[in-house]
Amino acid sequence: MLQVQGKKILINAGPTREFLDPVRYLSNGSSGKMGYALAEAAKAMGAEVYLVSGPVALNPPDRVKTVPVVTGEEMFEAMSGFLDQADWIIGCAAIADLAPVSCGEQKIKIDKETGKLTIELHPTRDIIATLASQRRDGQVFIGFAAETQNVDANAKSKLIRKGLDYIVANDVSQNNVGMNADQNAVQIYAPPGLLTSLGPTPKHQIAKDILRTIAKDIKK
Ligand code: C5P
Repeated sequence: MLQVQGKKILINAGPTREFLDPVRYLSNGSSGKMGYALAEAAKAMGAEVYLVSGPVALNPPDRVKTVPVVTGEEMFEAMSGFLDQADWIIGCAAIADLAPVSCGEQKIKIDKETGKLTIELHPTRDIIATLASQRRDGQVFIGFAAETQNVDANAKSKLIRKGLDYIVANDVSQNNVGMNADQNAVQIYAPPGLLTSLGPTPKHQIAKDILRTIAKDIKK
């Protein structure tokens, strides 16, 4: 039997937003499609799925407990609440990696003399790395990496640096695959290196293939 059946899988998906003031925020163009496709595939394969989602234009998948969040810290808190129960933790979200040091209570005005606005930013918490540092025996941590160059080197270094078991990497510089597209082509890495390449295939299909590949590898 495939190892996905009966597993509790915690997935994050979509972008996060970091507010500069009540109306402006830093974010990115993640659609959440890959994470939602993974949640649907895992559910169809017999897993119990918890999905923590940033703001996306997608309907929550059927029979998946979906928790909507906005900021990175909200995403971290929501995931922390499920961490203990989860067997697999999949970090598919495109977390905004920078946040304004402070959030104004009022809409910030541009300086009339200089015509400029200077914003101080700080890096946000690395959610998957923080959760992986609290891992208990038997948990499997899977990250995603969207790269525009040096996919192999960057994926391997993220795998180690973030303390993950698998990284699913894709080259987002290619047209029609990756972020915001309906198709994806990925390479799956596990220490010490490349495990397999999948696609280009529609995201709902590649989601199943990713889960099957990892389940098979865990069984080895
Ligand atoms: O952005 P980066 O390429 O480092 O993302 C790789 C992995 O780390 C992804 O799984 C992403 O969800 C996760 N990540 C995170 N918290 C961040 C940045 C990335 O969990 N602040």
